[in-house]
Amino acid sequence: MSALFTPLRVGALELANRIVIAPMCQYSAVNGCMTDWHLIHLGHLALSGAALLTIEATAVLPEARITYADVGLWNEATEAAIARTLESIRRWSDMRVAIQLAHAGRKASTEVPWKGGVQIPPDHANGWQTVAPSAIPFRDGEHPPVALDRSGLIRVRAAFVAAAQRAARLGIDAVQLHGAHGYLLHQFLSPLSNRRDDEYGGSLENRIRFPLEVFDAVRAAFPADRAVTMRVSGTDWVDGGWDIDQTIVFAQALETRGCAAIHVSSGGLTPSQQIPVGPSYQLPLARAVKRATRIPVIAVGLITGFEQAEAIVGTGDADLIALARTILYNPRWPWHAAAHFSEHVKAPDQYLRSQPRQYPDLFDIGH
Ligand SMILES: Cc1cc2nc3c(=O)[nH]c(=O)nc-3n(C[C@H](O)[C@H](O)[C@H](O)COP(=O)(O)O)c2cc1C
Repeated sequence: MSALFTPLRVGALELANRIVIAPMCQYSAVNGCMTDWHLIHLGHLALSGAALLTIEATAVLPEARITYADVGLWNEATEAAIARTLESIRRWSDMRVAIQLAHAGRKASTEVPWKGGVQIPPDHANGWQTVAPSAIPFRDGEHPPVALDRSGLIRVRAAFVAAAQRAARLGIDAVQLHGAHGYLLHQFLSPLSNRRDDEYGGSLENRIRFPLEVFDAVRAAFPADRAVTMRVSGTDWVDGGWDIDQTIVFAQALETRGCAAIHVSSGGLTPSQQIPVGPSYQLPLARAVKRATRIPVIAVGLITGFEQAEAIVGTGDADLIALARTILYNPRWPWHAAAHFSEHVKAPDQYLRSQPRQYPDLFDIGH
């Protein structure tokens, strides 16, 4: 039996195989509300045979968005838009659904990537004042963020909690907190972006304090039988920045607090990062977290091949693999992987006739 197609429990979440669809911003929302693009995008991925579909970075406040076109979950309208999308998807797919809750911090208020992705200053249309642990911009010359004071921290934490409560009402199976890619929680973790002199800055213990407070508050607010996980950057890829040793301390603290899984990505904190991009380039980071904790670890980053994915799970480097660009390029990747390993995969009734003759047992018929 293929390791990739072995079921796994993450907390109370039963996963049919080890393939996770990574969160992917679509920059196609209006006032934080999902649109018909999200139904098309998430809808087709929900037919892919992966075990878990992760909804893109979803802003917990309007100013938490990376761009004006990000999805949000901060009020009735944004909640209703997700509800509509999920209602349609669930009619045709029983794939488990997670949502990534996010705050972009100093990397908020930017143009959408295909229009350049540059910062939009607060006095321009579609721009706003950003916030961060310290008033240090992401890029030199950018309009700086405002350092969050105590009431600001309380407001951000409360927004994560409110969004998690909305996610619970939406019947979402798991919440992933975005602690990676240089967004707000990562900005607290890294000594390069966090220069605070209060109890939230300085020592490692202080820098992990706010992300852990957010985790604890969300964990308490989300139903106990549903998973809350964290996505981390395992390193900033810059000397003197956040690194794998600090990541392990953070992961162990999360484990003791009931975190159901750690998703190990990397980078995003500073434009001066030097990333050795290549197949499985982030896997050593996932492997290090896996060795130091007992909770499921998700590996991600240029995992494209079936044997490559099988080896990651089979050798125990990680428990699950996540796909982003790979599954956009080939949305039936899990079907092809199942065929490659003579395994079985779920396909919608409407497509059962597409089963190739050489794989007569590929589709789980009758569910
Ligand atoms: C279009 C696109 C949107 C993305 N949006 C998010 C996001 O919302 N949250 C996040 O944590 N990572 C995001 N990422 C990063 C991916 O989740 C993933 O970590 C990265 O692309 C590496 O995996 P891959 O090599 O399979 O693409 C995005 C990537 C792409 C390509």
